[in-house]
Amino acid sequence: MSKSYFIVGANGQLGTALRQQYPQAQFADIGELDITNRESVESFDWSGIDVILNAAAFTNVDGAETSEGRLVCWNVNASAVSNLARVCLKHDMALLHISSDYVFDGTKVPHLEDEVFSPLSVYGASKAAGDAVVMTLDKHYILRTTWVIGEGKNFVRTMLGLAEKGVSPTVVSDQVGRLTFTSELVRAIDHLLTSGAPFGTYNVTNSGNVASWAEITRKIFELAGHSELTVTDISTADYFADKEGIAPRPLGSEMSLEKIQATGFTSRDWTDDLTEYLTKETA
Ligand SMILES: NC(=O)c1ccc[n+]([C@@H]2O[C@H](COP(=O)([O-])OP(=O)(O)OC[C@H]3O[C@@H](n4cnc5c(N)ncnc54)[C@H](OP(=O)(O)O)[C@@H]3O)[C@@H](O)[C@H]2O)c1
Repeated sequence: MSKSYFIVGANGQLGTALRQQYPQAQFADIGELDITNRESVESFDWSGIDVILNAAAFTNVDGAETSEGRLVCWNVNASAVSNLARVCLKHDMALLHISSDYVFDGTKVPHLEDEVFSPLSVYGASKAAGDAVVMTLDKHYILRTTWVIGEGKNFVRTMLGLAEKGVSPTVVSDQVGRLTFTSELVRAIDHLLTSGAPFGTYNVTNSGNVASWAEITRKIFELAGHSELTVTDISTADYFADKEGIAPRPLGSEMSLEKIQATGFTSRDWTDDLTEYLTKETA
């Protein structure tokens, strides 16, 4: 019998992709269910639900460094996760949660699932706390991902916007990783939920050669037909030198994909998904 899913944070990039994948699933975003409100989460009607898919998060990495942002960030990414964990225990539901390479400082690459937390930023620390809560549940999946691209504000759309204005940007060239398209995240989620893969933590990103943001920008411009534009490399330190309130970022974001591959899931090369994404965006 197929399982019943409930998507929280359903209007975000991943939430939107999950709703497309699971049209039968129940779902809510903050307007219908604010997961930071413990009473609302506890009194919610969870009957018939087998798995909560938590796509909710505070993802404004720099915003989390402000005094107000820090509170919201910790509330959504850590305290609210404990609200979800409590109802999962109470109603015998599994919790599928999404995490980030920002729980690490980016010095040990490729990152393995059991690397010790070493977050550099408020966002990274709050995500690590959320992971630690989810790990206390027997029935959990944590998917650690990087550089998410879907329906919403994201790096590819920002660079396309610049290209359309004829801007040749300066882009950081010392942060290295892979894009993760929400289509791949959703495919990995479906694989884990339906294949009987053991509960636990799995890295999930697109596959392919790792690249810097500057290299990715060059690829975007090439594929989108903007080869007249140039991309100038800059280090993260120099890029942020004259800006205030910027969160420190890990330089090495490459995730080892061996664990999820061993369960029978192979992710697509990020350049293939980028090509398809740009075809749709520029149609
Ligand atoms: N984006 C990335 O590059 C990236 C990288 C690595 C990992 N991740 C992780 O991947 C997951 C999905 O990211 P995403 O890019 O899809 O995020 P997103 O687009 O920012 O979506 C997050 C959603 O959660 C909602 N939300 C915020 N506070 C909430 C609350 N209190 N109750 C219920 N919903 C709430 C947001 O609503 P509002 O918009 O109204 O606030 C938004 O709809 C997150 O766990 C994130 O940490 C993302």
